[in-house]
Amino acid sequence: MKVLIATEKPFAAVAVEGIRKEIEAAGFELALLEKYTEKAQLLDAVKDANALIIRSDKVDAEVLDAAKELKIVVRAGAGYDNVDLAAATAHNVCVMNTPGQNSNAVAELVFGLLVFGVRNFFNGKAGTELMGKKLGILAFGNVGRNVARVAAGFGMEISAYDAFCPAEAIEAAGVHAAKSQEELFETCDVVSLHIPATPETKQSINKALVGKMKKGGILINTARKEVINESELLELMAEREDLKYITDIMPDAHAAFAEQFPTRYFSTPKKMGAQTAEANINAGIAAAKQIVAYFKEGCERFRVNK
Ligand code: 3PG
Repeated sequence: MKVLIATEKPFAAVAVEGIRKEIEAAGFELALLEKYTEKAQLLDAVKDANALIIRSDKVDAEVLDAAKELKIVVRAGAGYDNVDLAAATAHNVCVMNTPGQNSNAVAELVFGLLVFGVRNFFNGKAGTELMGKKLGILAFGNVGRNVARVAAGFGMEISAYDAFCPAEAIEAAGVHAAKSQEELFETCDVVSLHIPATPETKQSINKALVGKMKKGGILINTARKEVINESELLELMAEREDLKYITDIMPDAHAAFAEQFPTRYFSTPKKMGAQTAEANINAGIAAAKQIVAYFKEGCERFRVNK
C-alpha cells in the first residue's frame, strides 16, 4: 500500500516523521512530494499512490484520472474546498478531513494578527487594546470556539453567529449568540471569519455587511479568500477610512489593497494559520491514522463525500 504526502506547502519535518512512523508501522510505504511547482509533478507522483495526504493542494478530476490506484484522499486540515468531491465520488475515492486538529493554531494566529492590527502594524504610533472590545465570531466551529477561548483571556466581550449551530450551544460556551451575521457586524469592533468556502458563503462578506461595522472596525480573515467580495471591500475601504482588513489568505486583489490602504490592510505572504509544528503533527498523524483505519478496518469516520 503506497501513501503519498503531496504538499505544496510542506509539513514541519517532525510531522512528516510522525506520519512515516504510523504508515510504516502498518506495513505501508510512504512517498513524499513537497514544494512542487507544477501540476505535472503531482500528476506523475499520484500514478501509483493508493492513498493521498494533502493540505490546500488541489485535487480535481485531472488528478483523480491520473491516480488510477487511488482509494482515499485525506485533507490534513479542516477545509476541503480544494477537493472536487463529486469527481472523487465518481472515481470511487473516499475523501476525509481531520476536523479540529489545527484549530488552536489558527485561533492563536487570529490574536497575533489582531494585536499587530490594533497597534497600527507596529509603526510606533499609539494603538488600542483588545480588553473590553467586542469580538464577533463567524461561525462557531472548532476554530471559532478556540478563538472564543483565547478572547476571554484578553478580556474581550464575545459574540458569535453560526447558521448551523443552535444559539443554546453558543451560549453554553459563555458566548453571546447573535441573531444574525448582520447583528454581529453592527455590534462588534472586530469580526473574525471562520466560515468555510461554500456556494452559500462565497462572496458573502460584502459591502452591505462590512459597511455595518462601527467606526474603527477591523475585519480579520483566517478562513478563505473566496468568502470576501473583494471589489466591494475595496470600494468600502476607500469610502470608510476607519476600517481595517487583516487577512491570512492573500486576496486576488492584494496589490490594490496594499497600494490603496498601506496603513489599514495586511496580508501574510502565505497562509500561516495552521503552520505550526503542533498543528502539522496533529493533522498529519490524524490523516495517517485515518488512512490506516480505512484500509485495515474499513473505517469511514470523517468521510466528507457521499
Ligand atoms: C484548513 O482548512 O485546515 C486551514 O485553512 C489550513 O490550511 P493549510 O493546510 O493549507 O495550511
